[in-house]
Amino acid sequence: MINFEGKTCIVTGATSGIGLAIATKLASRRANLVVVGRNEARGQEAVARLSREGVKSVLVTADLADAAAPALIRERTLETFGRIDVLINNAGILINGSVLECSEVDWDRTLDINLSSAFRMSRAILPTMIAQRAGSIVNIASDWALMGAKNATAYCVSKAALAQLTRCMALDFAADGVRVNAICPGDTDTPMLDQAFKDGDHASKMAVLAAGIPLGRVARADEIANATVFLASDEASFMTGALIPVDGGTSAQ
Ligand SMILES: NC(=O)c1ccc[n+]([C@@H]2O[C@H](COP(=O)([O-])OP(=O)(O)OC[C@H]3O[C@@H](n4cnc5c(N)ncnc54)[C@H](O)[C@@H]3O)[C@@H](O)[C@H]2O)c1
Repeated sequence: MINFEGKTCIVTGATSGIGLAIATKLASRRANLVVVGRNEARGQEAVARLSREGVKSVLVTADLADAAAPALIRERTLETFGRIDVLINNAGILINGSVLECSEVDWDRTLDINLSSAFRMSRAILPTMIAQRAGSIVNIASDWALMGAKNATAYCVSKAALAQLTRCMALDFAADGVRVNAICPGDTDTPMLDQAFKDGDHASKMAVLAAGIPLGRVARADEIANATVFLASDEASFMTGALIPVDGGTSAQ
């Protein structure tokens, strides 16, 4: 059974959706947790819930658009736990639109949060992992990193670039004992997916999406968390540079 006893895991965007499911799953496997989120109230709620699992967890309230955030997160983690074993770059945003509809501000913000924040977090955390000669980074990309999609150009480009960042970091740091992989989720029932569609109630939106997915439904966040926790763990000790679709077969079509 996968166990993170004595290991410290940082999860960004951990106060909702897939990030919260990953943090919850890591907590169930005894990890020390660093919950990174923007919303103090939601973060406190998440940390209280994780503490009830009997694990030690701390909240770092930070906006990843802020270039100072990664150093703050690293320092709080090292002060509290003394080491960093796992970094999950999960925080992300989706702004819909084609090239003609996407403003330059939205393009820049999408690339900044979905791609550059993972670059900045990795730069801050990698030296600690290299000094330990051990570490695992998992980037939460998307099945839209592997294929194109209509009406989401900035998002698709940011996730494809995050996939390439994953491969490059995997090659650069393999000899240092640091593994870097990515999960490519398909449509997953979270606030992001719900907010992406304006029309219809929640059930009808999910039913429309399910029609295009070979397994016939959208994912639950805990199904994405299962694969993420596996990649982060020593059970995946010979995996690095992998982009793993968890998409009900969508990208196999
Ligand atoms: N839900 C899906 O269908 C789906 C599919 C593929 C990939 N993903 C990816 O999964 C990840 C999690 O998304 P989700 O579906 O759980 O959505 P979500 O909106 O519930 O979660 C995203 C989290 O990122 C945080 N975040 C966004 N900008 C931030 C910033 N500047 N600083 C700090 N935190 C910030 C949000 O506060 C939120 O907690 C994202 O990277 C998303 O692109 C989601």
